[in-house]
Amino acid sequence: MPSTTADPGHAKGKPDNTNALRMALDWPLHLRTAWARELPDAKDVETLTEGTRGVCVTGMGGSAIGGSLARALLGPHLSVPMELVRDYQLPACVGNDWLVIGVSYSGNTAETLSTFQRAVDRGCRCVALTTGGKLKAMAETHGASVIMVPSGFQPRAALPYLLAPLLKLMLPLCHDDPGLDVDSTCEALKDEPGTLLKATEVMEALEGGLLVIYAYEPWGPVAYRWQTQVNENAKVLAFHHTLPEGDHNDIVGWEGAVEGMVVVLLRSSMEPAEVQARFEMTRKLAWDRGAKQVIEVQAEGQDALTQMLYLVLLGDVASIMLADRLGVEAEPVQVIESLKVKLADMAVGTDGETPGPEREVAP
Ligand code: PA5
Repeated sequence: MPSTTADPGHAKGKPDNTNALRMALDWPLHLRTAWARELPDAKDVETLTEGTRGVCVTGMGGSAIGGSLARALLGPHLSVPMELVRDYQLPACVGNDWLVIGVSYSGNTAETLSTFQRAVDRGCRCVALTTGGKLKAMAETHGASVIMVPSGFQPRAALPYLLAPLLKLMLPLCHDDPGLDVDSTCEALKDEPGTLLKATEVMEALEGGLLVIYAYEPWGPVAYRWQTQVNENAKVLAFHHTLPEGDHNDIVGWEGAVEGMVVVLLRSSMEPAEVQARFEMTRKLAWDRGAKQVIEVQAEGQDALTQMLYLVLLGDVASIMLADRLGVEAEPVQVIESLKVKLADMAVGTDGETPGPEREVAP
């Protein structure tokens, strides 16, 4: 297991994941800092959100996950519809009375530039959440708001700085108080030795398996975060699904060869009784079908925010430990970068200035 401070134990040539692990463990501290930051201009937020008919968050990968988590937390309380877009196109329903938040850590992601340009063209109320790049420039050119995010992180590691402003922008759009207490959540997540202990246990269960991660439907973004962190940090293939839906398709797939399958069940005390019963049955079925390993990870905390972020933190840390165990560097994602460069060379909607024509939408 990697230590959390400078690690003299790293053999020569073995990747040093100390920095990635430190960043992940400091997640609750970063969230507290991010939550304490004022949005650029409070009056602006009022103007942006007053009379808003819908909210749309656009972004990709590590920049989009904050939107998924914000929707999972605030969705049931929103008085307006919410769209989450991981694409070049904007849905037709997004009109000039919508708040559109373009999230790109680098500020240079083609899909996000394309949707943001479309939102500007439609006269939407636009906000860019970024460290800079073309997104910042585009927002400034069109007089849109810019919320600057601290640089020096991998996009996926900057989640606290992407999630906090999204929550702040969406809270005025809620019809009731969702009861978010971010400071006490950060306090509850501070138990570093506890996190390391649990994450080690999880990492050991994940090693060497084909990972399939399940969560109760509203917690799907948490399962997805686990998948993407295992993909990007440990460079390992993984899948995720939700229950009850997975009980209507995935489990049939288990009739094939599943010897190497490691089933991860992310559990919450907030699951309704019928979903709990499904998890029990599904776990038994996975063992019966010959899964290599079935583990349950119980969320800790008294409220949805704490439970979700507890699981996110644990998955982040476990995925970096897995990278370390497998001898790979957690931080670089070279294949993503080189694909972006290749697409830019082909000029496929990458300049953000000339997005392709709007997709025709059936009336
Ligand atoms: O985790 C990552 O590095 C990726 O998933 C990126 O977040 C994704 O490619 C989008 O880039 P950006 O976050 O800079 O918009």
